[in-house]
Amino acid sequence: MNAPREISYPTYLELDTLLGLQRPQSAPEHPDELLFIVVHQASELWFKVLLHEFDQLIAHLGAFDAAAALTTMQRINTLVELVAHELSALDTLPPQRFMQFRGYLGSSSGSQSAQFRAIEATSGLRDPHFMAALKEHGPLPPVVARALERPTLQALFLALLAKEGRTLEQVYAEDGHAMLQMLAEAFLAYEQGFARWRFLHVQLVERIIGPDTGGTGGTLGAKYLTKTVHQRFFPELWAVRSKLYGRR
Ligand code: HEM
Repeated sequence: MNAPREISYPTYLELDTLLGLQRPQSAPEHPDELLFIVVHQASELWFKVLLHEFDQLIAHLGAFDAAAALTTMQRINTLVELVAHELSALDTLPPQRFMQFRGYLGSSSGSQSAQFRAIEATSGLRDPHFMAALKEHGPLPPVVARALERPTLQALFLALLAKEGRTLEQVYAEDGHAMLQMLAEAFLAYEQGFARWRFLHVQLVERIIGPDTGGTGGTLGAKYLTKTVHQRFFPELWAVRSKLYGRR
């Protein structure tokens, strides 16, 4: 099938629209605000791709296709590393320069990112604290509601193991389950990668606004964010290690 003739690089990528979406609010425009906006917008674009890849992953897990799930997890893990790494662009923003335009952000805060919450919910955060925090910003955005309707990744993975007739402990303790073990390890790598994003983000926050400054979203800032670094999507994958070492 041929593409319509008028498709070209700028029209295919909708560059006029895309490049018109960066609108610094500071007046006169602060020279660092463009970078601040682009890092956030680029992150949101990657969050969009991540959610799309999670749809694929969930379909593969639902079809008990471990090999396809592993391939998708490898892509997801690459994307998580990438989105974490791009935070470093803002390490070049000194505190006094951010202060010069922070007031123009109003009450906007990363904690209002519906896609980020949807990624967390898809991955498995369902605890009461998380659910309460979600409701603080009003009705659930559809992307989050949809994520909450689905089983967690851990539940899907355990269902796949049950279908194969084995437990997580057997996958690690016995020989011959290479594919399932690689998939389990890919989930663990995702957990680590996500925690790295959280850590790099809180370090960035401390570097720019300090450890004791509250966030524009009304939280305790870095103190709140530090606690989130220890959240886990796959408690069973961590617990199985203790089981192997004889602790239950
Ligand atoms: C100058 C750089 C940044 C500063 C000072 C900053 C500050 C903060 C603070 C203080 C919070 C806590 C919530 C609040 O009360 O506002 C927060 C949360 C958040 N920020 Fe940032 N941030 C920065 C860059 C970024 C970037 C580039 C992203 C990428 C999308 C991002 C995404 C988020 C998300 C998703 C949360 C919610 C995290 C959670 O609740 O676990 N932030 N940020």
